[in-house]
Amino acid sequence: MRTGTLAAITLATAAFVGGLYLGQSSSEVVITSSANGAAYSGGYKQDQDAELSQTSGQVAAVIAEGKTIAVKPGDSIQEAVKSAQPGDTIQVFPGSYHETVYVDKDNISIIGVIEKGERATLDGQGKLNDAILYSGNNFVVENLKIVKYKGNAIMGQAGNNFEIRNNHIVDTGVYGIFPQLGKNGVVEHNVISGIEDAAIYVGMSDNIHVAYNEVFDSVAGIEIENSRHAIVESNYVHNNTGGLLAFITPGLPIKTTYDVIFRNNFVVNNNTPNFGAPGSTVAGVPAGTGLLIMAADEVVVEGNIFSNNKTAAIIITDHDNAPNTTIDPGADPAADKVMILDNVMLNNGYDTIDDVKALMLTELKSGPVDIVRVGVSRDSCIINRHRYNHVGIGDFGTCDFTNTDSIDTYLLDEPVPPREIKGEDKGKIAYLGVCTGCHTYNGRMIGPPVQLIQALYMDNPQGLADYIANPVKKRDDYPEMPPQNYLDEETRLAVAKYMLSRTN
Ligand code: HEC
Repeated sequence: MRTGTLAAITLATAAFVGGLYLGQSSSEVVITSSANGAAYSGGYKQDQDAELSQTSGQVAAVIAEGKTIAVKPGDSIQEAVKSAQPGDTIQVFPGSYHETVYVDKDNISIIGVIEKGERATLDGQGKLNDAILYSGNNFVVENLKIVKYKGNAIMGQAGNNFEIRNNHIVDTGVYGIFPQLGKNGVVEHNVISGIEDAAIYVGMSDNIHVAYNEVFDSVAGIEIENSRHAIVESNYVHNNTGGLLAFITPGLPIKTTYDVIFRNNFVVNNNTPNFGAPGSTVAGVPAGTGLLIMAADEVVVEGNIFSNNKTAAIIITDHDNAPNTTIDPGADPAADKVMILDNVMLNNGYDTIDDVKALMLTELKSGPVDIVRVGVSRDSCIINRHRYNHVGIGDFGTCDFTNTDSIDTYLLDEPVPPREIKGEDKGKIAYLGVCTGCHTYNGRMIGPPVQLIQALYMDNPQGLADYIANPVKKRDDYPEMPPQNYLDEETRLAVAKYMLSRTN
């Protein structure tokens, strides 16, 4: 009973939240919005009967008694969030909204109203960094259109039990939907295109379900990075540089990726030339890659259709053989226990890269290739290998199971309790939830390596804290860093100290 609408969970959480959240003082909430400005001035609307569209995989536990706040063109969504209580729903009517919305409360739902196909549209006009940043738990966002931001459309910063559903996202910069450091969340029925890094980027998260999304015209389609217990199924992944990715990115504080199921996805025509930021990890993904497994363990690949990916349907690599990666002594660089079950692979690897051609020569092979393995991969397996063109998998055994039918979801039966973040954890959670979206310890990500920042600021945490509130452009070969001034002063200093204390 792990799929479908989890009504029992809804009730359980309502009670839980009623008992605990209210007792939690705001000083314990980690990422607080600095703006406490004017009260919401638009038209309030109490609407107890508002029906929310809920599809599968409900994890965020919407509280029925919450009020509904209507936001119309000319109003501000952020003001509505400020006036909302946990349990409230913010209903956004069709029209254009030019703002960044920070949600640091628990149990908030932002639901777009769709009228005659018209959506509430957050438009960053190519100037704003992010559309929605949430750090609250049990956050729901549905039915929005989000266009022309420079950073993220929807980024989670340590929020658990999230539902990100049925949003239409175009050209929002580095990431489309990016839950970072979240547990128990659903990303489904979204349509995302034109993203410079990953359209859907699950970072340092656990128990995640990514289903029924369409992702295209982006560098990476769906990326599961430094995360565990994730299912990626029934997505349409086309015309990206690389379609699906399961990674360990070196230099992040959480150092594993394992137990990821990719099944029943359509992964086609991922041949778009790479337009990722130079030097970034995804900039190393060869155009024409269906699925790239780098250093991740226990990845199951089942029931997918891979077709017309010109480099290969599946590339399995360790860190040592991957471009644009550093070595992290704290992370195992090998991609172990990869399990390739039945898939359909058609017309892949017909114009592959020289490295793969050279590898094929060592096995006296030539021509198109579906599956490529380079570097260390222990205890991996495949069934029906005769169906595919492959190279480097001679030592793969035969898998001792043929399907994952017994696993519906890795979503949890009970929502994760709200985070209680005490003073000393503020820096750590902000570092994991925010900074590591762009900085790794020893490599180049979107921003420079932490080691380099440490050399600049070792005795000057206050200077670092001041910089992130008001970053100035320093390096020609990096983008600008977006201001982090929505973090309060105390958190900015705490995260500065935490960043300077990292050793890996
Ligand atoms: C969206 C990506 C992004 C996020 C998130 C981000 N940074 Fe950055 N950061 C950058 C980029 C890009 C640069 C390089 C800017 C430049 O050199 O012009 C940078 C540079 C820096 C620098 C170097 C300043 C200097 O004087 O050279 C520091 C310090 C820093 N970031 C700290 C942080 C901290 C702390 C956080 C988390 C609260 C953070 N960053 C979050 C992208 C990001």
